[in-house]
Amino acid sequence: MTSGSIPRFALTTPLYYVNDLPHIGSAYTTMAADAIARFYRLQGHDVLLITGTDEHGQKIQRTAEQRGKVPQAHCDEIVAGFEDLWQRLNIQYDRFSRTTSPRHAQIVAEFFQRVWDKGDIYQGHQQGWYCVDCEEFKEERELLEEKHCPIHKRPVEWRDEQNYFFRLSNYEDALLKFFADYPDFIQPTSRRNEVLSFVERGLQDFSISRVNLDWGFPVPTDDQHTLYVWFDALLGYVTALLDEDAEPTLENAFSQWWPINLHLIGKDILRFHAVYWPAMLMSADLPLPHRVFGHGFLTKDGQKMGKSLGNTLDPVALVEHHGADAVRYYFLKALEFGRDGDFSETRFIDVVNADLANSLGNLLNRTLKMAVKYCDGKVPDINLEALPDTHPLVQLGREAGDQVANAYQSLNFSQACHIALGLAKAGNQFIDEQAPWSLYQKGEQSRVNEILYTVLESVRLSAYLLTPVIPDLSLRIYQQLGFKLDLNVDHGGKRAALHAVHSHWGALPAQQVLGTPQPVFQKLEPLQAAAP
Ligand code: MSP
Repeated sequence: MTSGSIPRFALTTPLYYVNDLPHIGSAYTTMAADAIARFYRLQGHDVLLITGTDEHGQKIQRTAEQRGKVPQAHCDEIVAGFEDLWQRLNIQYDRFSRTTSPRHAQIVAEFFQRVWDKGDIYQGHQQGWYCVDCEEFKEERELLEEKHCPIHKRPVEWRDEQNYFFRLSNYEDALLKFFADYPDFIQPTSRRNEVLSFVERGLQDFSISRVNLDWGFPVPTDDQHTLYVWFDALLGYVTALLDEDAEPTLENAFSQWWPINLHLIGKDILRFHAVYWPAMLMSADLPLPHRVFGHGFLTKDGQKMGKSLGNTLDPVALVEHHGADAVRYYFLKALEFGRDGDFSETRFIDVVNADLANSLGNLLNRTLKMAVKYCDGKVPDINLEALPDTHPLVQLGREAGDQVANAYQSLNFSQACHIALGLAKAGNQFIDEQAPWSLYQKGEQSRVNEILYTVLESVRLSAYLLTPVIPDLSLRIYQQLGFKLDLNVDHGGKRAALHAVHSHWGALPAQQVLGTPQPVFQKLEPLQAAAP
């Protein structure tokens, strides 16, 4: 599947609980992961984007019961909803990992055995407050009034059971050493600090089995117990690494794509990914992933958006009404990825209309119309080298490629969009100032050519650099500029070479026949205004 010299990039979204259909909060991680995957694909990397579903545990079992379904039928229905949403949002995932797959059962059993053989699993007694929505025991001091979960605001349940435990406490020193050796492992820094102080306070072993729960894998050494859903779910990433026809063994799973380059998650599941998961891998003598990034929550009126709080947005309605590019753009441009960000429909419409419809779409349209009138509908031929370094568009254009690449690499989507869009904004200002229509009247054709080339090139570069975020719109812009290149498909070994040209200033070929000017992006209208 991969050839030796092509760099690889493997990344994951969380495996979503299938207690309900996805909401826009859960889609947030996936939109970001897809943008990163597209960014690396554009550069010519071999990319593996893993998403999937976490289908075991009490929460799912209860929801299925409430819906009058057997758990598997319930899961299958909800999974279909996830797949449908990912398609609507234009998510190009490579593997969809379901924790109810028979292959996964084999991976989990083998992994459990390794940790068992290491002596890191023992039977013990567990007492405490359990949040079924988090599928996690909570410390009493974390709880809100009347024993409510601080995240889900629902009552927690008292549990008193014999369980199997994982010796997390064995890994306290090794984890602290690892965090010190790899300071970029947990990002952003604020989350890293949270994790460090959590581990420094001392780690307690955690239970990895449940009693009185049918929906899950039996503990391989004791079928009276069911494996704790998180122990099973994290291994879903590993199962996803298997090629379709490979025997489900750990050796096969870890042979190609491991270690994963990036786990993208929300901040509520940071502890599982940055503490429990690395310790489990250390116990199994496996190398650790490169990076865990915990992003903020989408909030509405300051509250985490989620099904349990009943304050979600329906992502399907949002995408159906406004299109995938608009939704992707807003969430990645207008919110700072590491922090919480509030959704408001007014802001959504304002940002998307200002940036995509006005700055980018209108600029392309008006410039194309001028190119039809003044340059026979072709890209004007100019001496690019002769443009002074102080030319405002040349200056921005020469720097934008590297700056945007740095921003994507550090998952600063907002910054990547800001810089890329900056080219279009500057293009608008430049064309207004230069007024090529009056220069044309005066017969100054070479000035007109120069202005139109630099503005069209600014739009092109802006669209190219925004491809990971707005793949369809970027492609429409490229088509109007006369390219036959499909930015969103794999071009085999040619991808890196194409990227080297297209991510830089000056890639618009002189004399290329431009498309017929047509609006590439319709302005958004509020949802209510569209109702009959
Ligand atoms: N099943 C676990 C993950 C197991 S990974 C091995 C889980 N699932 S979840 O469906 O509850 O959440 C999936 C992701 O959605 C998490 O990263 C979570 O942080 C994210 N979000 C859920 N609500 C969110 C917001 N309101 N805002 C942003 N992200 C949120 O946890």
